[in-house]
Amino acid sequence: MSMPAFPNIARVEASDKVRGTAIYAADNVRPGMVHAALTVATIGRGRITGLDTAAARSLPGVLLVLTHEDLGELVSPGFLLAGGYAFQSLQVMTSPAIAYRGQPIALVAAETLEIATEAAALVRATYEAEPVQVILGGPSMDAVAQADSPLPKPMFADRRAGDADGAYADAEVRVEATYSSPPQHQNPMELLSTVAEWHGDRLIVHEGSQNVGAARAGLARCLKVDPTQVDVISPHLGGGFGQKNSLQMQTTLAAVAARRLGRPVKLVVPRSQGFHDSSFRPASRHHVRLGATREGLFTAAIYETESQTSRHDLYGTQYAEVAANLHGFANFRSREVLVRMDAQTPGYMRGPYEHAACFALECAVDELAVALGHDPVALRLANDTQLDTITKKPLSSRHVAACLRRGADLFGWARRQPAPGSMRAADGAAIGWGVAIGAYKASTAPAIARLEVRSDGRVSINVPGHDMGQGLRTAIAATVAVKLGVPADAVSVLIGDTRGVPQHLTAGSWGTATAIPAAAEAADAMLGELRQMAPSATDSSPFAMLTAAGRTSHAVEVQRRAPGQPDAIFQRLSAGLPAAAGPVYPDFTSFSYAAHFVEVRVDQATRRVRVPRAVSVVDCGRVVSPRTARSQVQGGVVWGIGAALREASEPDARYGGFINADFAEYVVPVNADIGAINVEFIDKPDPLLNAVGVKGLGEIAMVGVAPAIANAVFHATGRRIRDLPIRIEHLL
Ligand code: MOS
Repeated sequence: MSMPAFPNIARVEASDKVRGTAIYAADNVRPGMVHAALTVATIGRGRITGLDTAAARSLPGVLLVLTHEDLGELVSPGFLLAGGYAFQSLQVMTSPAIAYRGQPIALVAAETLEIATEAAALVRATYEAEPVQVILGGPSMDAVAQADSPLPKPMFADRRAGDADGAYADAEVRVEATYSSPPQHQNPMELLSTVAEWHGDRLIVHEGSQNVGAARAGLARCLKVDPTQVDVISPHLGGGFGQKNSLQMQTTLAAVAARRLGRPVKLVVPRSQGFHDSSFRPASRHHVRLGATREGLFTAAIYETESQTSRHDLYGTQYAEVAANLHGFANFRSREVLVRMDAQTPGYMRGPYEHAACFALECAVDELAVALGHDPVALRLANDTQLDTITKKPLSSRHVAACLRRGADLFGWARRQPAPGSMRAADGAAIGWGVAIGAYKASTAPAIARLEVRSDGRVSINVPGHDMGQGLRTAIAATVAVKLGVPADAVSVLIGDTRGVPQHLTAGSWGTATAIPAAAEAADAMLGELRQMAPSATDSSPFAMLTAAGRTSHAVEVQRRAPGQPDAIFQRLSAGLPAAAGPVYPDFTSFSYAAHFVEVRVDQATRRVRVPRAVSVVDCGRVVSPRTARSQVQGGVVWGIGAALREASEPDARYGGFINADFAEYVVPVNADIGAINVEFIDKPDPLLNAVGVKGLGEIAMVGVAPAIANAVFHATGRRIRDLPIRIEHLL
């Protein structure tokens, strides 16, 4: 299967989005639709002793008030990482127990949003409160080494290669440090929102989801209906970033309210409640020991982490999977510990393990470069590798050296003066130049692709995938268009909809490497069958062949799975369960990589840090949709700037929950924070992962940006800040 060059087409739904005709979940309006709002717990842990809903019920326009006294029949849909479908195992509003501040305790449905909101505020609860533990590193931590936990292995095992402790003890140069990353929330622009409507015993849910298959299966389990009675429809998301990767908290509640009322229900979770009604990036601490020879060869890495989980679930971590494969480490050992705390279950937020792991490792590598007196680019080049540190099998493709060299050229790295504080701007600001690399697993999920060509000149393709704004629909349309030799706007793409082929979770940067090879195979199969149907056709256009065969339409279906996956994997796909493979495949290991170079300027008087420019060179295999890919990397760099300098959710040690649960106080970068972001791709197809040569891009875009900034801050100021985010007060 050969693949011609991909055209630089515009986002296929761009004009729909500009004109407002791309319908997001909360845009859905139905006759008789009811609006719902939630009341949430104001204690951090304990139980409800009394719930007074009289005032709420007596407000004119209120149609329904639901509490745990009404919903005892709901079955937990289970936690995504434990064979279930939801972001946590706790099904709220089924008992008086409170596991965290912000947990929903009542739902009010009313004729208008205003009435529902007012009534929800009138619900009064009394509680028996217990002390909370919400700060990682506080006293009496309830810790679980995940290697000794029930979490599945080898996914959540410790990693080991050689004798890291011996090699570290013998190392000529050593660095030892602890780094930390705060809790953060994904905060996609599109709020968590559901419109649920019943047609008899059939439930239709409109929701921005990265995982309509799990939402369907989870709803079915929770509501005790058959999955075939449920459809979940999610054509567009206003961002996902992991927040929408499973059955959401509000979905079930909206569906129950709609069933009780016999009317469609819309439930939009306000920004402030979203901080507790979905997952978040857990607080984590990373203890790193690196050993090297005096010539600068890495001989040992010992990597130990502590990461927040909830009382009710184990959100396992894979920090070491990426850390082990950042560089060629002759000896490596890791240990990952989970700490149970009183919050909702944390989960996946863009670069969930990789961002924090690369922050720790790549800052430590920079500290080692300083200790050795080596240039940090040269040190990384000297420790490049083509082998998986743990399995010793080949990496399918790794162009880290090319990323570093090209990035250094584009950035002008050769002009860097190595001594901290030695570069100054005209206004006196200290200039710092920093570099770091990132890696992100190249995973692949199984896919069934259905492709139809019609004689009216239309093509439709249905594959697993969800478009969160990253451009997946555009990449799929481009692939089919290029393969069939038709214009991209002739191609309709059906994704994120349970009414077609089984949908798999779109996350882990596997969307492109899952949907694109399947779409390409379907197009090849289509061309093959059309040629057989019209052997004498002289025009190779699929429409011409179709007409020559005397047909008005023709459809094909192909099945594709990741290297090494068994046939039975399609049962998991159909059940709405995670079924992705990678980065370790039977014969090789696959990662995407990036090298990020950043300049910071630290104002002498205020110590304010600015990032006027960044250069990112990315090895994601073949680039399928150049325009949306570039946009995605620019967005990733913005995320990295936010992670390094702005974003932190602040847990409240007194009462639980997160204090700064709004956009006034959860600070993200704005336009004024962003300078020039120069993006380039290596664009070399991966030879082993799939025939198109795609690896993955969504998360590698941000992984490594934060350490590049921290390293630049060190270069500007001589101050090594190991705790994110880096703020003015750390540099005074
Ligand atoms: Mo992503 S954090 O894998 O949705």
